[in-house]
Amino acid sequence: MQNFTFYSPTYFVFGKDTENQAGEYVKKFGGSKVLIHYGGGSVVKSGLLDRVKASLEKEGISYVLLGGVKPNPRSGLVYEGIELCKKENVDFVLAVGGGSTIDSSKAIAAGTVYEGDFWDFYMGKRIEEALPVGTILTIAAAGSEGSPDSVITKEEGMFKRGASGDAIRPKFSILNPALTQTLPAYQSAAGITDIMAHLYERYLTNTAEVEVTDRLIEALLLTMKHEGPRVIEDPNNYEARANIMWAGMMAHNNSCGVGRTQDWNSHNIEHELSALYDCAHGAGLAVTMPAVFTYVMKHDVMRFAQVATRVWGCQMDFTNPEVTAKAGIEALRNFLISIGMPRNFEELGAKKEDIPKLVDVLCNGDGRPGSISGFVTLNEDDCTKIYEMML
Ligand code: NZQ
Ligand code: ZN
Repeated sequence: MQNFTFYSPTYFVFGKDTENQAGEYVKKFGGSKVLIHYGGGSVVKSGLLDRVKASLEKEGISYVLLGGVKPNPRSGLVYEGIELCKKENVDFVLAVGGGSTIDSSKAIAAGTVYEGDFWDFYMGKRIEEALPVGTILTIAAAGSEGSPDSVITKEEGMFKRGASGDAIRPKFSILNPALTQTLPAYQSAAGITDIMAHLYERYLTNTAEVEVTDRLIEALLLTMKHEGPRVIEDPNNYEARANIMWAGMMAHNNSCGVGRTQDWNSHNIEHELSALYDCAHGAGLAVTMPAVFTYVMKHDVMRFAQVATRVWGCQMDFTNPEVTAKAGIEALRNFLISIGMPRNFEELGAKKEDIPKLVDVLCNGDGRPGSISGFVTLNEDDCTKIYEMML
């Protein structure tokens, strides 16, 4: 195991009706003038926004509203949010929605107290300072409710890039699984896929002897395998929703990623797809992961064979572990298809003729060195072959 630090200071408030405590928690963390940031309208339709507003009003906290965050959130609305926060002297940003809304909130929080262009952070500058952020989560997926990360797409060039820093870790996150019951099945499945990807990206490591984190990841993958189909079958299954919601947080606050190298090639390869086609991030991952894993499998066949036996129940073939490794990747692929995820470029809405463009932005965009690095280093030729495997 490698040396590490672990810092996860978010105050989690989990369970039914907890959104009604939003005002108390904003107050606890020093907010007096709040930006309530939300998405395309699901929180208006469900009545959640009204409940949150009422909770702030009860505590005498004033607020301004900014809706309209799109999935794969854009830089344009972030600039708008920064202007609004400066003009209104906002001192707390409250995200009500999914990963996109939370990420947009984090970008606004960092950009408001920064002299330069907020995009500097998405070009690699670490976020050291930000307005405090709180979240009320409505979809289990991105894990942004417990992460120090934010992913934004810059409209010019459609660059989708991430920024990071402890300053944007949410001060509190309210997780009421019942709020996720209104999700369309496709969004639930995309969320499940993203959570599983966060687990796989950590499982694929070059660090030896990481038993505790291996076992944590396997437990969470087994949970997703059990609970995923239950919420697709019955969207109102509160207990299954609850297990998935907490697994989503655990999968991405890095408690199961410490002390080991991690992969993230699948995420990087997918981000170009959701940037270009505006597909759901999880749907893109469903198509990306099996291709990437098949391509890199030989780098460490036993790691793939291990997850195949421990999570997917495959028989270990000791004479040819590659057979087991492949069966595990196939089991993952079939699982994702069974919950309604796309299986190839066509079902995702991606186009073969765009592959050179995807590869170029992936490997060379924003000053990248002609390759991406993770479990293995992938150059332009490798990435071209991987995208072709998704056809
Ligand atoms: O915009 P509204 O109307 O709210 O609708 C949303 C949106 O259309 C809808 N939705 C959310 N909760 C709902 C609901 N509809 C009905 N009932 C509810 N309870 O679902 C759609 C997707 O929402 P979005 O916020 O985009 O989903 P998700 O949480 O998957 O976030 C995706 C974004 O997070 C990034 C992705 O790249 C993508 O941009 N990621 C962020 C990470 C991080 N910050 O740590 C890590 C991830 O790997 C990921 O890259
Ligand atoms: Zn993800």
